[in-house]
Amino acid sequence: MTLINENYLHLEESYLFSEINQKIEEYRKENPKANIISMGIGDVTRPLPKAVIEAFHNAVDEMAHKETFKGYGPEQGYPFLREAIIENDYKPRGVKLTLQEVFISDGAKCDTANIQEIFSKDNKVAITDPVYPVYVESNVMAGRGGPQDKKGQYNGIIYLPCTAENNFQPPLPEEKADLIYLCYPNNPTGTSLTKDQLKEWVDYARDNNSIILFDGAYEAYIQEKNIPHSIYEIEGALEVAIEFRSFSKTAGFTGTRCAYTIVPEELEAEDSQGRKHPLNRLWNRRQTTKFNGVSYPVQVAAAATYTKEGQKEIKKSIKYYMENARIIRENLKDTGLEYYGGVNAPYIWIKTPNMSSWQFFDKLLEEAQVVGTPGTGFGPSGEGYFRLTAFNTRKNTKEAMERIKKIEF
Ligand code: MLT
Repeated sequence: MTLINENYLHLEESYLFSEINQKIEEYRKENPKANIISMGIGDVTRPLPKAVIEAFHNAVDEMAHKETFKGYGPEQGYPFLREAIIENDYKPRGVKLTLQEVFISDGAKCDTANIQEIFSKDNKVAITDPVYPVYVESNVMAGRGGPQDKKGQYNGIIYLPCTAENNFQPPLPEEKADLIYLCYPNNPTGTSLTKDQLKEWVDYARDNNSIILFDGAYEAYIQEKNIPHSIYEIEGALEVAIEFRSFSKTAGFTGTRCAYTIVPEELEAEDSQGRKHPLNRLWNRRQTTKFNGVSYPVQVAAAATYTKEGQKEIKKSIKYYMENARIIRENLKDTGLEYYGGVNAPYIWIKTPNMSSWQFFDKLLEEAQVVGTPGTGFGPSGEGYFRLTAFNTRKNTKEAMERIKKIEF
């Protein structure tokens, strides 16, 4: 009989957010009248900016005429979007990139999951814990994780615990890490790293010939001045880091799908003979074989986020969500619960009082009909924590906080 990839058997039964959805559905069946407010998955609620919609419509119309119709586009993305990214997201921060270094995709989730394919299975992977589950699970699927131990850690992965005790600052790995996943502003803790703190990681990677996989999906939420928007703001990072960014949380593209990945040309890794190879070529090879690009209208829509009007509307949405974050934090003050994050990120990380993450999940669902995400779903160090997102509407956010304040913890 055909054999399966047994690495999949090491994984939990379902993906975190699928498990939460199942639980909500069960609750809904038993309580059909319940008015559930979701502050679980980090999904945006505000519509696409008008400037984006207009560009999107026009591009769809182009597809209707033989003169302007587009078939396959470049697998790496259309130059107009890649140029707009370089000009708007990097140049103003003093980062020089070439067109070849920018790869458009349909999501940072896919890119952060797929990137491990271009690296040897023998690499040691370090991840901050708790973390967005995709990094760990894609490596487990590829065979770098092995089975889970009693603590819920996969044997082959180096865990870097980030808890209130170390102020959510990941410790440098004790054993040598070849690949290091960093996500800042952080999902799920909502905390951030200053330039000096991030520099320690770039220095570590340079000293140890490691590669940093830097997920900057929440970059647009940064409010404070000393927080870097790109890892490439740190000197030397172009030699050691791949950066992932997304239009999802920045411009409301969670359902539209558009993101990009930067693979600098000077970034290299070795083969087993010690010969160096540019990772840019490998990623390009992978993408041209396995990916046919993002649809033309979506890329036009993404480019419209950089227009003056687009920028204005995006900033308005970010401000709206960050005001939700402020409201959540303000209201949590009255509950006596300890909480973190929500200043440079749309996530608020609550310490669960004398109960597990899942017990806290059940309590909030049953007593307030509010859904959040149990910290343990993001890794063993997330046990004892719980995540709320600021992505719901103002009305629902306020209502949810009023309900939570009535609970006795
Ligand atoms: C989350 O809730 O952690 C994110 O929305 C998930 C994602 O971006 O895929």
